[in-house]
Amino acid sequence: MKFDSPATSNPIDRGRVVGIPQDRIDGPAKVTGTAPYAYERHDAAPSAVYGWIVGSAIAKGRIKAIDSQAAQAAPGVLGIVTHQNAGPLDKGNMNTAHLLGGPQIEHFEQAVALVIADTLENARDAARLLRIDYAPEKGRFDLAAEMGSAVAPETGFGGPADTRAGDFDAAFARAPVRIDQRYTTPDQSHAMLEPHATTAAWNGDQLTLWTSNQMVSWSAGDLAKTLRIPKENVRLVSPYIGGGFGAKLFLRADALLAALGARTVGRPVKVAIARPQVPNNTTHRPATIQRVRIGANRNGVIDAIAHDVWSGDLPGGGPETAAQQTRLLYRGDHRLTTHRLATLDLPEGNAMRAPGEAVGLLALEVAMDELAEACNVDPVELRIRNDVQHDPEVGPSRPFSSRKFVECLRQGADRFGWSRRHPKPGQVREGRWLVGMGVASAFRNNLVARSGARIGVDGKGHVTVETDMTDIGTGSYTIIAQTAAEMLGVPLAAVTVRLGDSRFPASSGSGGQWGANSSTSGVYAAAWALRGKLAEKAGFAPDQAVFEDGMIRQGNQSKPIGSLAGREGLWAEDQIEFGDLAKRYAQATFGAHFCEVGVDIDTAEVRVRRMGGAFAAGRILNPKSARSQVIGAMTMGVGAALMEELSVDTRFGFFVNHDMAEYLVPVHADIPEQDVLFLDELDDKSSPMKAKGVGELGICGAGAAVANAIYNATGIRLRDYPLTIDKLLERGEGSALA
Ligand code: MOS
Repeated sequence: MKFDSPATSNPIDRGRVVGIPQDRIDGPAKVTGTAPYAYERHDAAPSAVYGWIVGSAIAKGRIKAIDSQAAQAAPGVLGIVTHQNAGPLDKGNMNTAHLLGGPQIEHFEQAVALVIADTLENARDAARLLRIDYAPEKGRFDLAAEMGSAVAPETGFGGPADTRAGDFDAAFARAPVRIDQRYTTPDQSHAMLEPHATTAAWNGDQLTLWTSNQMVSWSAGDLAKTLRIPKENVRLVSPYIGGGFGAKLFLRADALLAALGARTVGRPVKVAIARPQVPNNTTHRPATIQRVRIGANRNGVIDAIAHDVWSGDLPGGGPETAAQQTRLLYRGDHRLTTHRLATLDLPEGNAMRAPGEAVGLLALEVAMDELAEACNVDPVELRIRNDVQHDPEVGPSRPFSSRKFVECLRQGADRFGWSRRHPKPGQVREGRWLVGMGVASAFRNNLVARSGARIGVDGKGHVTVETDMTDIGTGSYTIIAQTAAEMLGVPLAAVTVRLGDSRFPASSGSGGQWGANSSTSGVYAAAWALRGKLAEKAGFAPDQAVFEDGMIRQGNQSKPIGSLAGREGLWAEDQIEFGDLAKRYAQATFGAHFCEVGVDIDTAEVRVRRMGGAFAAGRILNPKSARSQVIGAMTMGVGAALMEELSVDTRFGFFVNHDMAEYLVPVHADIPEQDVLFLDELDDKSSPMKAKGVGELGICGAGAAVANAIYNATGIRLRDYPLTIDKLLERGEGSALA
């Protein structure tokens, strides 16, 4: 099915199952421990043995020699894989090129060996006996120091490095009110609950990989290419995933090394990347340096806006596209955005939840708070004054498909009690606490991706859906079941959903918050095909048949759909393909974040007291799981604002705090109250579901609302994240802090 003109009325609009808050249908399997994760496939690979990854002890240089004699002779050891015996690997693919290092070393903790033994303990012990001689070289580890050598990246994201409209320099120079500030965000780690893990088994030349991966079809292709085998020979199975946040968009070392290890020892091998290895071995969200300039009139109306972004990555890597939202969020005739990419020899930078906007808004939305203050305009009102209903770089010829941004600001402010905010910082005191409120806009692009599914009904009227779509803790199982139930007029309990197997039709996968909208649209397309087959069997006209209560109806005739399915059941397969509506219309999701913090007047400890947000993201397919997505992402926004930072050792080039004891993320006690409002919205240009995504929207801007609340509480404006106690205390003198 091709989606190339706006959706008209369709069966999803009935809203009997779709749009109703539903418990996750995979919930019982998750909480009873019966959902098998990649490392637990004892059922599928009972004879599996254990691999332990050895990571490089240097960040850059070369392996001179490997002495594996002692390791090889250690108890239980079955084999050792290094670059010397791994066989030829195709390293032409950036997604897998760094997964096995040697002789060249590209980053610290890059996998250089896999030691395989009968038990995990034996593998880990033997790994310590491996002797590797390195010839280290000087590396580049400091983004600020490398800014001068940064270049405009050619590729790496869906847009040019730079955009321009009007004449920014002239307009900025003549603007009566000017903001020109620099902000920094640190390297961050995804910190998902389940580390990367794989069980691999070969059967002849057929490889099966039970792994934890967001993008089954991409990754099966990447692995086949790397191993130089046909894609059909790789089966990738990823039905349950303990979080990804972008860390599992691509295969990591566990997958490649499990495959190589299983080939070496001739039996299935399991490999998990140990938690302390994750931050340096795998990908992370790269640090940014950002300059935001805004020129406005005295009423705060923007005439000129510029956002310059610097980030770094390994050679061949891509930039952090932190100026993305600045291209679309606010009005202004004179505009400039730039991205510059430095070469760094740190571990690979890559996508983490809302790559681009998540950190871009940490800068832009503080700059907007600074503008509001400079113009003496309320920060909510300032954003409303700068709303624009079309792509401001292009003009009215490219309108937004839907944009309820102003409604989010107004309704969010009402619910939060924004009118109680004192406009002057440092004025509200409750006991030890200085109290302040902040607001920030939420914005995330709406992306869509081709997605396929197969759907069948059996003789009892039970419906089964198969697609390689993944559920990374987001609720895909449930919204896919809701879609199938709505389309075929059966209850949710009459639907079984099978996900995450490369033998099923290729889907959009889970990434970029495109998964929910795209994958359910693929199910919608397949369900249309099945409805056509059922109508034909019933002798009804496909466009007049109504599906409800397990029946197909036309006029006063009806038949149970199960009775039409026959003994083998009736199946149909299709995919949704998106035309150019995403080019003709700017498509994005919107929201407004509100936050109230308390700052301890003596210790400068920051406590988030409440958060609230209003969001517009098209049809909300399952308000219950959508809310979970948004509150989880708001929580990550609090982490970005207050605590998350991979500390770089710029001498040796690695992240020092590479475990969950020292890489701090918010816990329940840090998040007392979160209120989420979804606005009623249907986006008929986005998909037949009229939905968009919410998986990333909630993190976008949340941290800036915290930062702005801290300013309102204390009068201290911090621009280098995370906003920790030491930075507040350093600036405490003359502020409201004692
Ligand atoms: Mo996302 S950062 O595309 O999982």
